[in-house]
Amino acid sequence: ESPVIVAIDGPSGTGKSSTSKAVAAKLGLSYLDTGAQYRAITWWMLSNGVDVSDTEAVANASAKPVIVSGTEPVGPTITVDGEDASGPIRTQEVTAAVSAVSAVPEVRTRLVGLQRAAAAAAPDGIVVEGRDIGTTVLPDATLKIFLTASAEARASRRSGELKGAQSVQATQDALVKRDAADSGRKTSPLAKADDAIEVDTTDLSLDQVIECIVTLIEEKR
Ligand code: C5P
Repeated sequence: ESPVIVAIDGPSGTGKSSTSKAVAAKLGLSYLDTGAQYRAITWWMLSNGVDVSDTEAVANASAKPVIVSGTEPVGPTITVDGEDASGPIRTQEVTAAVSAVSAVPEVRTRLVGLQRAAAAAAPDGIVVEGRDIGTTVLPDATLKIFLTASAEARASRRSGELKGAQSVQATQDALVKRDAADSGRKTSPLAKADDAIEVDTTDLSLDQVIECIVTLIEEKR
């Protein structure tokens, strides 16, 4: 059996992370969260005084941090220069800055290299989640999924995760803004690959989405 490579893309709040982790665990595959890598490089820039609105400064700094992602199915980890970054990358400051950093081509080239290496090294295959996995990072993936959901559903799920730290409306505004930036950028924008299967999760439970994707993978194997 050759390793199965699963690309899961889509905007924020569609359940990509929960779904991808669960699918990987169920099938014994590795798991890679590429959004965490963009967040990690953004956190490093913010912590090291790089002006994230200065494209040239971001490009020049893009090679500096050492980013190591765990690709295990359970408890994915991410370190930056040897330090655990899994907490700090989820702050609102990082979330607000990440789209600007991830739009810089030098940042993408660097991280896409790490992502392809992780996929090639996964012994039994891998589930990779992001925005451009099916279109750019792994165009030959065994299966490509594009997750969608209404803006309302995405905002209310994300508000649940944030546990009332922000109103649902503020969360929705921030999500819509980030998606517009991610979809509108020049270098590998958020987009559905032509051969990706679109799954609208608005009215589905997490278990239903997981089941649907597991079935699609088993059909391809
Ligand atoms: O998935 P998550 O919301 O953690 O991603 C954070 C940000 O990282 C996205 O808003 C996007 O700007 C960037 N990203 C990207 N390409 C990917 C994954 C994430 O540009 N493959």
